[in-house]
Amino acid sequence: MRLDAALRRALRTLEQNDVGSARMNAETLLMFVLGCDRAYLYAHPERKLTGDEENRYNATITERATGKPAQYITGHQEFWGLDFIVSPAVLIPRPETEHVIETVLELARAQSFARIADVGTGSGCIAVALAKEFPVANISAVDISPAALEIARANAARHQVEKQIAFGESDLLAALPKELFDLVVSNPPYVGESEADKVQKQVREFEPKVAVFSGIEGMDIYRRLIPQARAALTPGGWLVMEMGYSVEQSVRGLLAGWENIRVTYDLQGIPRVIAARKPAL
Ligand SMILES: C[S@@+](CC[C@H](N)C(=O)[O-])C[C@H]1O[C@@H](n2cnc3c(N)ncnc32)[C@H](O)[C@@H]1O
Repeated sequence: MRLDAALRRALRTLEQNDVGSARMNAETLLMFVLGCDRAYLYAHPERKLTGDEENRYNATITERATGKPAQYITGHQEFWGLDFIVSPAVLIPRPETEHVIETVLELARAQSFARIADVGTGSGCIAVALAKEFPVANISAVDISPAALEIARANAARHQVEKQIAFGESDLLAALPKELFDLVVSNPPYVGESEADKVQKQVREFEPKVAVFSGIEGMDIYRRLIPQARAALTPGGWLVMEMGYSVEQSVRGLLAGWENIRVTYDLQGIPRVIAARKPAL
């Protein structure tokens, strides 16, 4: 079968199964199977797929048609300009989480960060991006999921920052020392179980529940993380957390007694990242 015909057929299958951005998905998965870029697809519509290529392409399209995210099929997602390995054990890194890195970079203009904790590291995307930005910082990256930590370690090695990051299994900050860190950063699970039906099907059915949901209202992890972060930080240290679209006021309420609270908005104008400073002595 010709490449253009295979693409047309895949597009039809994805559209019939209500997969959003069907063309982009059909092309991404063909690029994955052929190991080529988009320019090649457009330049060689007449290229014949081998029997093996056609079978593999059909298999990926069938998987995608079930709602499985393309990133779990290709095993890759870009974050902060870096390529990350992903599997169904980890949340797929989101573009809005880059605002966490941007916020930390802004804070770092006034204060240096030598000891950083990343809580709920998942794929390791935040820890690895920060290791690249702060090459002399020591980073502790924890997660409650051993399977996620394996992926995070692989990503740190892939980007040659494994010596800078100590990975460990921990329930939030329980396994880490107190009063040591000058920055605690986290993109915690923050979707309420009561909002599960509003979440996209591919998130609800394919991404790890422990990475997405946090109690009925989405606040359970914040309630535990904020006091733990206060204990883990040195005086004057910063806590930087990603937030869901509706929790800003509740999270601010939990930050009573912290200083310099500041919010970063995402490109849609949603309050996405909150930062707060533990009072200096
Ligand atoms: C929203 S994901 C974020 C992953 C990654 N940091 C990112 O930004 O893409 C939340 C992560 O927190 C982890 N997690 C959930 N509950 C936790 C807990 N009690 N202690 C430590 N990690 C937890 C999940 O396993 C998941 O990897």
